[in-house]
Amino acid sequence: MAFPIHRPRRLRQNKAIRGLVQETRLAVDQLILPLFVQHGTGGKSEIASMPGQYRLSIPELLKTCSEAFGLGIPAVMLFGIPKVKDEMGSEGMDSQGIVQQAVRALKKEHPERLVITDVCIDEYTSHGHCGLVKDGKILNDETLDLLVKMALSHVEAGADIVAPSDMMDGRVAAIRKGLDHEGHQETPILSYAVKYASCFYAPFRDAADSYPQFGDRKAYQMDPANAREAIREAELDIEEGADIIMVKPALPYLDIIRDLREQFDVPIAAYQVSGEYAMIKAAAEKGWIDEKKAIFESLLSMKRAGADIFLTYFAKEIAQMLIEGK
Ligand code: PBG
Repeated sequence: MAFPIHRPRRLRQNKAIRGLVQETRLAVDQLILPLFVQHGTGGKSEIASMPGQYRLSIPELLKTCSEAFGLGIPAVMLFGIPKVKDEMGSEGMDSQGIVQQAVRALKKEHPERLVITDVCIDEYTSHGHCGLVKDGKILNDETLDLLVKMALSHVEAGADIVAPSDMMDGRVAAIRKGLDHEGHQETPILSYAVKYASCFYAPFRDAADSYPQFGDRKAYQMDPANAREAIREAELDIEEGADIIMVKPALPYLDIIRDLREQFDVPIAAYQVSGEYAMIKAAAEKGWIDEKKAIFESLLSMKRAGADIFLTYFAKEIAQMLIEGK
């Protein structure tokens, strides 16, 4: 005989009571803002399928980061758009590459903030794949050397954390070994441990012009149908030395975040990817949903599922909402 003794609505009757019993809270110090950086000093160009997001020149990147850091966001994640793309993604490991230059500029201005770099060659390769290509196949072991070089060049430029997103087997171990060998034992690896072959990356590929020129990424990114495999991937990356593991995309994969939370004690990051951003933006532009509420509710869901860290293009908006106490 629950009712009328038990009335869950008693604890929902006003804002103060709701605040007391709120189980999940977002915090600005767990947000990471992903940003795209390009060559040149000529301002910024908006990404068509990601309204409000830009390819930034280094001076513009510094401005955007000052705003973000001013709001209390502790970290940014950098993606580079190279001058030229080639078979090996050479600019990705060049000490004068765009990301390496951006890291140096950022660390000079904001030594106390975190600069995280995406380690993957797809933004830099002419074929748009995340590994070296031979006879239409994506090579695994041959790609590892490139990833190690890329990670090292980022850390040498001053990156605080490296984040491999390529899904080659063994890359966390290879990067850990490569960094340790050069004396960078203290640099954490945030691994995109569980990265699905998702249609929700489409706007990002617009932004980075990184559509695969042939085929797709199904031979290295995970099948959206698989959940047990996510545990296996996470387990391997943790064994190989990943300090933080990531699930990507986020909202369509809340079950995976929960599964990992139950199995592992390492921090878990959730990446609200470009397509998730674009969907909220598009519906809000049409007046069909409330943008701010949709952002907040999505992030809360990820936190409720068990994520600790959030990569989101909405990081500044969320920080602003937290400041305003919404
Ligand atoms: C690979 C990479 C991708 C994203 C992050 N790292 C693209 C891909 O795998 O195709 C997507 C992020 C997003 O969609 O916001 N370097």
